Amino acid sequence: MNFSQGLYEVQEKKRWMNMEKLLVTGAGGQLGTELTEALVDLYGGESVIATDINPDVESLFERCAFQPLDVMDSKALNKIIKSKKVTQVYHLAAILSATGEKKPLLAWQLNMDSLLHILEIAKANKLNKIYWPSSIAVFGPNSPKKNTPQYCVKEPQTVYGISKQAGERWCEYYFNKYGVDVRSLRYPGLIGYQSLPGGGTTDYAVEIYHKALKKEPFTCFLKADTFLPMMYMPDAIRATIELMEAPREKISIRSSYNLAGLSISPDQVYQSILPHFPEFKIDYKPDFRQEIANGWPQSIDDRYAQEDWGWVPAFDLEKMTAEMLTHLPHFLKKTQGSES
Ligand code: SER
Repeated sequence: MNFSQGLYEVQEKKRWMNMEKLLVTGAGGQLGTELTEALVDLYGGESVIATDINPDVESLFERCAFQPLDVMDSKALNKIIKSKKVTQVYHLAAILSATGEKKPLLAWQLNMDSLLHILEIAKANKLNKIYWPSSIAVFGPNSPKKNTPQYCVKEPQTVYGISKQAGERWCEYYFNKYGVDVRSLRYPGLIGYQSLPGGGTTDYAVEIYHKALKKEPFTCFLKADTFLPMMYMPDAIRATIELMEAPREKISIRSSYNLAGLSISPDQVYQSILPHFPEFKIDYKPDFRQEIANGWPQSIDDRYAQEDWGWVPAFDLEKMTAEMLTHLPHFLKKTQGSES
């Protein structure tokens, strides 16, 4: 390809991207905060509308429009999608595993009904693309623990996992029956410095860095040797964008792709922090989340993501820890006072 051809293609892509209008639900959450920023970088602020049930998160979105939105309100959802001529939805609003076990019926209703609203709207309005996150929580105690394959026994034991598994079936159904271009990843536990997780079983792996930086001891709610699949947030954001940018014909899985980054235990995360903070102390008081973690895989086989759209993670534990400890102080400074 010569230079002017390349330039032409870049301009074409930009022109095409400018015609897209993206709606993000749950934009104030752990993933939403960072994914919305990445989408603004890619598409421009005028093409992105961040929404969240919590109006207080508006200040997070200085570079794009923000609108409070309850995803259970299908009329409001429909209205915003039509009036703003939305072409793609990133539907991130959900109740995670630990909170879901405390409010099982609410978790089921919110996670399922909101997805069905979006899929129906996508079908009726012929939206270009839908992104919906699934999770390692779709697996259960009868799934292989190590290198858990894409296709195997699932039998999730949490309401969150059941809702994600059912959601995957619905996504595939809407693609097969109605051609809705819905794409999804089974995220491992996500670890990032720009936002706090809420109500998940993998949240310890973010809290531990906060405690180390505050020079406070950390009490971990999982046992020291509990291996779980995890991923550094920049890898998760890049995976999401690579999946969504991939040509339609490359996407062979319309339920949700296995996605692998790290397979790590609380003790390993702790050991990776020690060279930076030799005085840092940890103790272990497993609670109900241990049982949830026991039912999940330890590591993931993501060969389809590798083969279909070229997925390669960039971060190992040491690299992630160094980055977390470098960047987190800035985040803490920014949010000082707003953290409990
Ligand atoms: N991080 C999620 C949770 O712990 C799993 O997808 O619930």
